[in-house]
Formats: sequence, C-alpha cells, structure tokens
Amino acid sequence: MLDWTDKHCRFFHRLLTQKTRLYTEMVTTGALLHGDQGRHLDFDAVEHPLALQLGGSEPADLAACAKLAERWGYDEVNLNCGCPSERVQRGAFGACLMAEPGLVADGVKAMRDAVSIPVTVKHRIGIDKIESYDFVRDFVGQIAHAGCEVFIVHARNAWLQGLSPKENREIPPLRYELVHQLKRDFPTLTIVLNGGIKTDDEIAEQLRHVDGVMVGRQAYHEPWQMVDWDRRFFAAANPAQSREQVESAWLAYLERHVALGAYHHWTQAMRHALGLWNGQAGSRRWRQIWSDHQYKSLAPREVAALATQARQGIAAHVAEHQAQTLAQRNMPEGEPAAGHA
Ligand SMILES: Cc1cc2nc3c(=O)[nH]c(=O)nc-3n(C[C@H](O)[C@H](O)[C@H](O)COP(=O)(O)O)c2cc1C
Repeated sequence: MLDWTDKHCRFFHRLLTQKTRLYTEMVTTGALLHGDQGRHLDFDAVEHPLALQLGGSEPADLAACAKLAERWGYDEVNLNCGCPSERVQRGAFGACLMAEPGLVADGVKAMRDAVSIPVTVKHRIGIDKIESYDFVRDFVGQIAHAGCEVFIVHARNAWLQGLSPKENREIPPLRYELVHQLKRDFPTLTIVLNGGIKTDDEIAEQLRHVDGVMVGRQAYHEPWQMVDWDRRFFAAANPAQSREQVESAWLAYLERHVALGAYHHWTQAMRHALGLWNGQAGSRRWRQIWSDHQYKSLAPREVAALATQARQGIAAHVAEHQAQTLAQRNMPEGEPAAGHA
C-alpha cells in the first residue's frame, strides 16, 4: 500500500506475524529502471515471505524489473492491475490494464520467461460500469493462459472517472460472490480475495471459498489483530505474547536505525506502529505522545518512557475507577464502598 507498507512497516508487521505474506508498496517500472533501486528494493531478511508489487505495462520493462526482484531476493513479483489513480492511468497501467488483457498477458509472459519466482496479478472485478462476471472471468482466463497462477482479486470495480482512489476503495460495492465463482471456475488457480475484510472470523469464512485473503487497511490500523494469525491460519506458534514484547522489539529496531542514520527521523517509521495499543486503556495518550512534535528530537527510548508512563497512568486510573464501580455495585445498600470509608 503506497506510503504505508514500506520496509519499516513490514518489519513491524513481522513482529506480529511471521507466516503472513507481505507486499511492498507499488513501485513503478520507471522508478526502478531509472531511479534509486536500493531505496525501492532494500528490505530486511526477516520480511520474508515478501512480494514486490510492480506498476507498469511495457513487457520488456516488467521483465527487467522482475529480474531485479529475483536478484534482490523477493519471493514473488506482483503486477498491479487494480490501482485507479489518475496518475497511474496517465501512465496506462494499474486498473486500466483490465481493459487490455492482451497486454497484461504479454507482460506476465515476459516476466515468467525472465524469472523463476512466481509472477502474480492483483486486479479488480471490473472497471467503470462493467458489471458482468464474464469480464473478470475472461481476464483471469487470458492471464492464466500466459502463465499466472495466483490472482489477488479486490472484490469491487474500479471507476476510472469521477472517484478519488480513496473513494474507489469504498464506493463501488463489494461482490465477494464473483471471486468465489472465479475459484469454482478455475479450481487449479490460487485465488486470493481482498476488500473490506475486518475480523478473523470473516477471514476464516472467506477461506471456505478461496485460497487466501489479503487484508489491507484493517491490518494497518489494527496491527495487534495480526498477532493471532500464525496460530489460527498457519498452524504455527504466535510470534509474540504481549504488546509490551512487540513494543520492546520495535524500540530496538528504531534505535538500530537511528544509530545507523538510516532514515532522517524515527517518526517516519514510528507512524506505522501507532495503532499497537489500540483498544487498551491509555492507548490514545500513548499515541499522542509518540506523535507529539515536541518530542521529535528525543531518542526513541525517551519517548517510549513518556508514552508508557502516560498509558499506564490512564490504565491505572481506569482500573481504579472500575474497581470502585464494582465495589459500589457489589456492596450491600447503605454501606460505603471500599476505599471511600
Ligand atoms: C493508503 C493505501 C495505499 C494503497 N496502495 C496500494 C498499492 O500500492 N497497490 C495495491 O495493489 N493496492 C493498494 N491499495 C489498495 C489495497 O491494497 C486494498 O486493495 C484495498 O485497500 C482494499 O482492501 P482492504 O479493504 O483490506 O483495505 C492501497 C490502499 C490504501 C488505503
């Protein structure tokens, strides 16, 4: 996800789940072929399994970038056929590629010929007002013929005119049944459903119909939810038992990068972790301290101490309030509550 799933974010997510496959932000072929490859492609070994997502349409460029992905050690290269932004449309890639399955097939074939890692495609169920299932079925059929075996399907149309990218993730209706139908029609392909999934039970329900589920915004905003995924969906041990444990490992990461001078400020990385304590007493104060500009020049450990203090202060206050409420509720009428005698 652009601006979200950078390498810092992915490292943080790896503290919560080690089995879930992670995806980079979309990187355009132009940026890779003419820009700073290290900046776009560098990642930490703990991020595996990791897919590089490409934005582009020129088969030779896609093949060259797929080779780069393989050389840098990515486990998968994914082609974006789902992004509706105008900038991307001007470059003639993203969701508008769904109107050109022949070109996508050529791109997939060129990448397949160039690398041995899996080449996958992420797409929508339709573009603009095309509502028929046949459209997405024929798209998948043609791309599968070119050698793609994994399809990640954002289960809503992309409206290429009149909606912002954000609206294009909210307004066109979700139609999961079309993705389920794809799995029935192409049982040998790996079909991954994406769009609007929030709870672990919803993931489990979708896994009855498809091979995988991709979770975007919910995972980013409520990262702690991922901590149970290894156990629940991969029959493996969860990597962390507590938020404290994750926070401590994350702090070590921040310090390491500050020491290396790897990025100009730790706030760049920390923004991805601000949801860690969501739902817990004091989480808002914890988040506020970490986001407060006046602390930007402190070392991460100093900010962490302040944030924890604030969070625990509120947590203690809430616990005391709860104890009082309970004591009042349980006491026989007329007796003073404990602590108020
Ligand atoms: C900030 C943001 C950036 C995104 N960037 C990308 C991207 O680079 N490539 C992509 O395939 N999808 C991108 N998406 C779309 C998500 O991958 C996903 O398809 C969409 O949000 C629906 O899934 P969700 O409801 O689980 O979030 C982005 C979404 C958001 C919110």
